Amino acid sequence: MWKDLDISLEKATALKEKPSVENLGFGQYFTDHMFKMQWTQDQGWHDARICPYEPFSMDPASTVLHYGQAIFEGLKAYKSYDKQIYLFRPTDNFERMNNAASRMSMPRFPVEGAMKALKALVYLDRDWIPEAEGSSLYLRPTMIGVDPYLGLKPSESYIFYVIMSPVGAYYAEGFSPTKIYVCNDYVRAVKGGVGDVKTAGNYAASMLASEKAKKDGYTQVLWLDACERKYVEEVGTSNIFFYIDNKLVTPPLSGSILGGITRNSVIKLVRSWDIEVEERPISIDEVIEASQNGSLKESFATGTAAVISPVGELFYNDASYLINNGETGDLSIRLFKDLQAIQYGHKDDPHNWRVRVG
Ligand code: COI
Repeated sequence: MWKDLDISLEKATALKEKPSVENLGFGQYFTDHMFKMQWTQDQGWHDARICPYEPFSMDPASTVLHYGQAIFEGLKAYKSYDKQIYLFRPTDNFERMNNAASRMSMPRFPVEGAMKALKALVYLDRDWIPEAEGSSLYLRPTMIGVDPYLGLKPSESYIFYVIMSPVGAYYAEGFSPTKIYVCNDYVRAVKGGVGDVKTAGNYAASMLASEKAKKDGYTQVLWLDACERKYVEEVGTSNIFFYIDNKLVTPPLSGSILGGITRNSVIKLVRSWDIEVEERPISIDEVIEASQNGSLKESFATGTAAVISPVGELFYNDASYLINNGETGDLSIRLFKDLQAIQYGHKDDPHNWRVRVG
């Protein structure tokens, strides 16, 4: 069906001025084109088009605006020294998005067709892929329910679209260590809920605690489990790792945290270096004890936007705990360099993670 879908192309008549690479920040600028298609019960996915980046109109009663039927992904396109363009594990993003679609009672889409659209879009706007070290083109596939209907039921029509934004580092700290506030008054998600799904509401629900932490000088919050407020879950919008006693420990994918693609890549890379990785519940008390007895060597967060983001300090129950003297550790540096070298096409790709465009 959809894998042979025709994608129409309408090119922008006037191209926008590109921002200078020093001022990119994260998610502020958008490229000249976007991809868009629609789903209805009788036609399935149809009207696929690459068109100029533009606002679209929506009925004020649209399902997404009232009941939050919205899922999205984040992945990046990179340009190598020799101007090759690479996507990093894009089919994993689309498969995760399809799982999210099922959980949110939204239609699945054929990954092959979405890949065709994504590659065509990235190639068309390839001049927007920044070339400076650490910068990339962030791609945001999104699906929303657009039925104008206020009764509570899954929408019968959807829009899937992809927009693209040239980005630098996600955090102002760049690759410098972040200060993290351990949150024990709010929680992010419960098992059986949608914490393992990349749906908009999870991010809305996280904002209050994050903003409070930011006001107090912290970069992000570290979430604890919703039942006991004992086990570590995620940090802000990323997965979290602790390097304790020469083992890398990260919470398991047990339903309330997102199965990060960077998380999975880090686990595979570290295992290939013969460093043990444990995916297991880890309590905040264990982390604090390890920090006090010196066995916690490093901690870092992982995510598409954040890449590898070292944690230099934790604040928990009125006390601060420095990690690695507040400095970026050797494992974080090695991981950052290795992962980025693979992503940019500057070294071999033994896991076949890269997909070439063009
Ligand atoms: C990503 O890392 O791609 C995300 O979606 C996190 C977002 C808050 C930027």
